[in-house]
Amino acid sequence: METNEIISLPRIGDKAPSFKAVTTQGNINFPEDYAGKWAILFSHPADFTPVCTSEFMTFASMQSDFEALNTQLVGLSVDGLYSHIAWLRTIKEKIEYKGMKNVEVTFPLIEDITMEVANKYGMMQPGESNTKAVRAVFFIDPKGIIRAMIYYPLSLGRNFDELKRVIIALQTADNFGVAMPADWRPGDAVIVPPAGSCGVAKDRMEGKEEGVKCYDWFFCTKELSKEKVEAALGKK
Ligand code: BEZ
Repeated sequence: METNEIISLPRIGDKAPSFKAVTTQGNINFPEDYAGKWAILFSHPADFTPVCTSEFMTFASMQSDFEALNTQLVGLSVDGLYSHIAWLRTIKEKIEYKGMKNVEVTFPLIEDITMEVANKYGMMQPGESNTKAVRAVFFIDPKGIIRAMIYYPLSLGRNFDELKRVIIALQTADNFGVAMPADWRPGDAVIVPPAGSCGVAKDRMEGKEEGVKCYDWFFCTKELSKEKVEAALGKK
């Protein structure tokens, strides 16, 4: 593939492209098998490589956190199934890293030697590599819609706390009809949608809406407690 050839990438708001695949946990039909749940579909460049190993150990160690958020993890690389199985066995049996050991990866890892899925999801980015997928992450909601995407190059391992923050923020936005300001974390104030009428805007600006603070007419936040956020997570 030429470096400057135009490749179509899925977009935020699109239905996640469907595919059937073989994984380390059996066959999957994506995203249909994940209806009613959030899914994080992510690619890594290659099995038996150090950055990817550190990522898999970290992600697998956080799997229960994601399950508590009604979120399933699905990995992919353009390696074959036997390579995946051998690599995951090596991780479990031999690698101790940053206090993590005996790490068992129980989420499905897709084999994609034909690159069919990687191409559908724009994970092959020839300017970076013709033979390895970049580190792509797709956040897919319970209706199968792509809600966020992040791409990293081969040389940079992902921040898994950020991936968890994205899932929490998307679920909070859906549950409360709000938006999140920069660096938002549960317990921080959230952004309220623009006031629907001049009267409401005036009340807001004058501080008459409880828990609402306006910095200007177009920029108002309101308190949303960590407890309320946590009680709603995994619900939508
Ligand atoms: C790694 O995961 O260590 C890696 C994979 C492909 C290229 C460079 C680094």
